[in-house]
Amino acid sequence: MKNIVVLVSGGGTNLQALIDAEKSGLIQGGKITCVISSKDGVYALERAKNNNIPARVIPRKEYPDSKSYSEAILNALNEEKADLIVLAGFMTILDECVTKAYAYKIINVHPALIPSFCGEGFYGLKVHEKALEYGVKVSGATIHFVNEEADAGAIILQGTVDVQRDDTPEILQKRIMENVEWKLLPKAASLFCQDKIEIIDGKAYIKD
Ligand code: GAR
Repeated sequence: MKNIVVLVSGGGTNLQALIDAEKSGLIQGGKITCVISSKDGVYALERAKNNNIPARVIPRKEYPDSKSYSEAILNALNEEKADLIVLAGFMTILDECVTKAYAYKIINVHPALIPSFCGEGFYGLKVHEKALEYGVKVSGATIHFVNEEADAGAIILQGTVDVQRDDTPEILQKRIMENVEWKLLPKAASLFCQDKIEIIDGKAYIKD
Protein backbone atom coordinates (compact mmCIF):
# COMPACT_ATOMS: atom_id res chain seq x y z
CA MET A 1 0.00 0.00 0.00
CA LYS A 2 1.49 3.37 -0.99
CA ASN A 3 1.40 6.29 1.47
CA ILE A 4 -0.30 9.30 -0.13
CA VAL A 5 0.51 12.68 1.43
CA VAL A 6 -1.77 15.50 0.29
CA LEU A 7 -0.57 19.12 0.38
CA VAL A 8 -3.24 21.83 0.63
CA SER A 9 -3.65 25.57 1.19
CA GLY A 10 -7.37 26.24 1.08
CA GLY A 11 -10.87 24.81 0.91
CA GLY A 12 -9.74 21.35 -0.02
CA THR A 13 -12.45 20.23 -2.43
CA ASN A 14 -9.82 18.24 -4.32
CA LEU A 15 -8.71 16.68 -1.04
CA GLN A 16 -12.37 15.75 -0.46
CA ALA A 17 -12.55 14.15 -3.91
CA LEU A 18 -9.49 12.06 -3.02
CA ILE A 19 -10.99 11.06 0.35
CA ASP A 20 -14.30 10.10 -1.29
CA ALA A 21 -12.52 8.13 -4.01
CA GLU A 22 -10.48 6.24 -1.42
CA LYS A 23 -13.64 5.42 0.55
CA SER A 24 -15.35 4.06 -2.55
CA GLY A 25 -12.35 1.89 -3.41
CA LEU A 26 -11.40 3.99 -6.41
CA ILE A 27 -7.80 4.51 -5.31
CA GLN A 28 -6.29 1.11 -5.66
CA GLY A 29 -2.98 0.44 -3.91
CA GLY A 30 -2.86 3.73 -2.00
CA LYS A 31 -4.06 5.34 1.24
CA ILE A 32 -4.09 8.99 2.32
CA THR A 33 -1.86 8.89 5.39
CA CYS A 34 -1.28 12.59 6.02
CA VAL A 35 -2.46 16.06 5.00
CA ILE A 36 -0.03 18.98 5.16
CA SER A 37 -1.34 22.53 4.99
CA SER A 38 0.66 25.69 4.24
CA LYS A 39 -1.92 27.72 6.20
CA ASP A 40 -3.62 27.30 9.54
CA GLY A 41 -7.40 27.50 9.83
CA VAL A 42 -8.25 26.40 6.28
CA TYR A 43 -11.25 24.18 5.65
CA ALA A 44 -9.09 21.43 4.13
CA LEU A 45 -7.86 20.76 7.70
CA GLU A 46 -11.46 20.22 8.85
CA ARG A 47 -11.93 17.70 6.06
CA ALA A 48 -8.83 15.80 7.24
CA LYS A 49 -10.06 15.88 10.84
CA ASN A 50 -13.58 14.73 9.88
CA ASN A 51 -12.06 11.73 8.17
CA ASN A 52 -9.49 10.90 10.87
CA ILE A 53 -6.53 11.68 8.65
CA PRO A 54 -3.48 12.98 10.54
CA ALA A 55 -2.75 16.59 9.57
CA ARG A 56 0.20 18.93 9.96
CA VAL A 57 0.36 22.67 9.49
CA ILE A 58 3.63 24.06 8.15
CA PRO A 59 2.82 27.76 7.72
CA ARG A 60 4.53 29.35 4.71
CA LYS A 61 4.52 32.74 6.42
CA GLU A 62 6.80 31.49 9.18
CA TYR A 63 9.67 30.85 6.76
CA PRO A 64 11.80 33.60 5.22
CA ASP A 65 12.15 32.05 1.78
CA SER A 66 11.10 29.22 -0.48
CA LYS A 67 14.27 27.24 0.22
CA SER A 68 13.86 27.09 4.01
CA TYR A 69 10.14 26.36 3.60
CA SER A 70 10.84 23.56 1.14
CA GLU A 71 13.37 22.03 3.54
CA ALA A 72 10.71 21.90 6.25
CA ILE A 73 8.28 20.26 3.80
CA LEU A 74 10.99 17.79 2.72
CA ASN A 75 11.60 16.76 6.35
CA ALA A 76 7.88 16.21 6.90
CA LEU A 77 7.53 14.15 3.71
CA ASN A 78 10.47 11.98 4.74
CA GLU A 79 9.03 11.51 8.24
CA GLU A 80 5.68 10.53 6.74
CA LYS A 81 7.39 8.05 4.41
CA ALA A 82 5.50 9.52 1.46
CA ASP A 83 5.31 7.37 -1.66
CA LEU A 84 3.07 9.78 -3.56
CA ILE A 85 2.65 13.49 -2.88
CA VAL A 86 -0.47 15.16 -4.23
CA LEU A 87 -0.60 18.95 -4.50
CA ALA A 88 -4.33 19.61 -4.17
CA GLY A 89 -4.71 23.36 -4.28
CA PHE A 90 -1.27 23.88 -2.73
CA MET A 91 -0.39 27.48 -3.49
CA THR A 92 3.35 27.47 -2.82
CA ILE A 93 6.04 26.63 -5.34
CA LEU A 94 8.40 24.00 -3.97
CA ASP A 95 12.14 24.37 -4.30
CA GLU A 96 14.25 21.78 -6.09
CA CYS A 97 15.32 20.15 -2.82
CA VAL A 98 11.80 18.64 -2.78
CA THR A 99 11.20 18.16 -6.51
CA LYS A 100 14.56 16.40 -6.98
CA ALA A 101 14.17 14.15 -3.90
CA TYR A 102 10.69 13.13 -5.08
CA ALA A 103 11.09 13.23 -8.86
CA TYR A 104 8.04 11.71 -10.62
CA LYS A 105 6.41 11.19 -7.21
CA ILE A 106 4.67 14.56 -6.89
CA ILE A 107 1.49 15.28 -8.86
CA ASN A 108 -0.33 18.59 -9.14
CA VAL A 109 -3.75 19.63 -10.36
CA HIS A 110 -3.72 22.82 -12.43
CA PRO A 111 -7.05 24.39 -13.42
CA ALA A 112 -6.26 25.00 -17.10
CA LEU A 113 -5.06 23.16 -20.16
CA ILE A 114 -1.27 23.36 -19.80
CA PRO A 115 0.66 24.95 -21.57
CA SER A 116 -2.04 27.65 -21.51
CA PHE A 117 -2.64 29.86 -18.46
CA CYS A 118 0.04 28.33 -16.28
CA GLY A 119 3.37 29.10 -14.62
CA GLU A 120 4.18 31.53 -11.84
CA GLY A 121 1.29 33.80 -10.87
CA PHE A 122 -1.37 31.54 -12.43
CA TYR A 123 -3.27 29.95 -9.58
CA GLY A 124 -6.84 29.64 -8.30
CA LEU A 125 -9.40 32.08 -9.72
CA LYS A 126 -6.72 34.09 -11.57
CA VAL A 127 -6.34 31.26 -14.05
CA HIS A 128 -10.04 31.42 -14.97
CA GLU A 129 -10.01 35.24 -15.13
CA LYS A 130 -7.17 35.06 -17.68
CA ALA A 131 -8.87 32.32 -19.71
CA LEU A 132 -12.09 34.39 -19.94
CA GLU A 133 -10.15 37.56 -20.70
CA TYR A 134 -8.48 35.76 -23.60
CA GLY A 135 -11.81 34.45 -24.89
CA VAL A 136 -10.96 30.75 -25.09
CA LYS A 137 -13.91 28.50 -25.98
CA VAL A 138 -12.60 25.42 -24.19
CA SER A 139 -10.76 25.16 -20.88
CA GLY A 140 -10.14 22.38 -18.40
CA ALA A 141 -7.62 20.97 -15.97
CA THR A 142 -4.30 19.17 -16.12
CA ILE A 143 -2.83 16.60 -13.78
CA HIS A 144 0.95 16.59 -14.13
CA PHE A 145 4.14 15.61 -12.40
CA VAL A 146 5.93 18.42 -10.59
CA ASN A 147 9.48 19.32 -11.57
CA GLU A 148 11.78 22.31 -11.06
CA GLU A 149 9.74 24.63 -13.30
CA ALA A 150 6.22 25.78 -12.35
CA ASP A 151 3.52 23.73 -14.14
CA ALA A 152 6.06 22.27 -16.57
CA GLY A 153 6.33 18.60 -15.53
CA ALA A 154 5.10 15.66 -17.61
CA ILE A 155 1.35 15.71 -18.24
CA ILE A 156 -0.53 12.66 -16.93
CA LEU A 157 -4.18 13.45 -17.68
CA GLN A 158 -6.17 16.38 -19.09
CA GLY A 159 -9.90 16.99 -19.40
CA THR A 160 -11.91 19.77 -21.00
CA VAL A 161 -15.13 21.75 -20.53
CA ASP A 162 -16.79 24.23 -22.89
CA VAL A 163 -16.65 27.90 -21.92
CA GLN A 164 -20.08 29.57 -22.02
CA ARG A 165 -20.68 33.11 -23.18
CA ASP A 166 -21.84 34.44 -19.80
CA ASP A 167 -19.29 32.58 -17.63
CA THR A 168 -17.72 34.35 -14.66
CA PRO A 169 -14.37 33.10 -13.27
CA GLU A 170 -16.30 31.52 -10.38
CA ILE A 171 -18.74 29.67 -12.66
CA LEU A 172 -15.96 28.41 -14.93
CA GLN A 173 -13.90 27.32 -11.92
CA LYS A 174 -16.84 25.33 -10.55
CA ARG A 175 -17.53 23.65 -13.91
CA ILE A 176 -13.87 22.63 -14.26
CA MET A 177 -13.66 21.37 -10.69
CA GLU A 178 -16.84 19.30 -10.89
CA ASN A 179 -16.29 17.87 -14.36
CA VAL A 180 -12.55 17.47 -14.50
CA GLU A 181 -10.47 18.07 -11.34
CA TRP A 182 -12.49 15.97 -8.89
CA LYS A 183 -12.51 13.05 -11.34
CA LEU A 184 -9.03 13.13 -12.83
CA LEU A 185 -7.02 13.81 -9.66
CA PRO A 186 -8.18 10.61 -7.89
CA LYS A 187 -7.81 8.72 -11.18
CA ALA A 188 -4.19 9.84 -11.55
CA ALA A 189 -3.46 8.95 -7.90
CA SER A 190 -4.90 5.50 -8.46
CA LEU A 191 -2.91 4.96 -11.67
CA PHE A 192 0.26 6.02 -9.85
CA CYS A 193 -0.40 3.71 -6.89
CA GLN A 194 -0.87 0.79 -9.28
CA ASP A 195 2.41 1.63 -11.07
CA LYS A 196 0.48 2.25 -14.25
CA ILE A 197 2.24 5.45 -15.26
CA GLU A 198 5.46 5.15 -17.23
CA ILE A 199 7.89 7.86 -18.23
CA ILE A 200 9.53 7.71 -21.63
CA ASP A 201 11.78 10.58 -22.78
CA GLY A 202 10.32 12.85 -20.08
CA LYS A 203 6.70 12.22 -21.11
CA ALA A 204 4.11 10.31 -19.08
CA TYR A 205 2.09 7.46 -20.58
CA ILE A 206 -0.63 5.28 -19.08
CA LYS A 207 0.16 1.57 -19.34
CA ASP A 208 -2.57 -0.64 -20.84
C1 GAR B 1 -8.31 24.15 -7.62
O1 GAR B 1 -9.07 24.66 -8.67
C2 GAR B 1 -6.92 23.82 -8.11
O2 GAR B 1 -6.90 23.34 -9.41
C3 GAR B 1 -6.24 25.15 -8.04
O3 GAR B 1 -6.75 25.77 -6.87
C4 GAR B 1 -8.04 25.24 -6.56
C5 GAR B 1 -8.00 24.67 -5.15
O4 GAR B 1 -9.26 24.28 -4.72
N1 GAR B 1 -4.83 25.00 -7.99
C6 GAR B 1 -3.98 25.87 -8.53
O5 GAR B 1 -4.32 26.91 -9.07
C7 GAR B 1 -2.50 25.49 -8.43
N2 GAR B 1 -1.73 26.21 -9.38
P1 GAR B 1 -9.47 23.26 -3.50
O6 GAR B 1 -8.66 23.78 -2.31
O7 GAR B 1 -10.94 23.34 -3.24
O8 GAR B 1 -9.03 21.89 -3.93
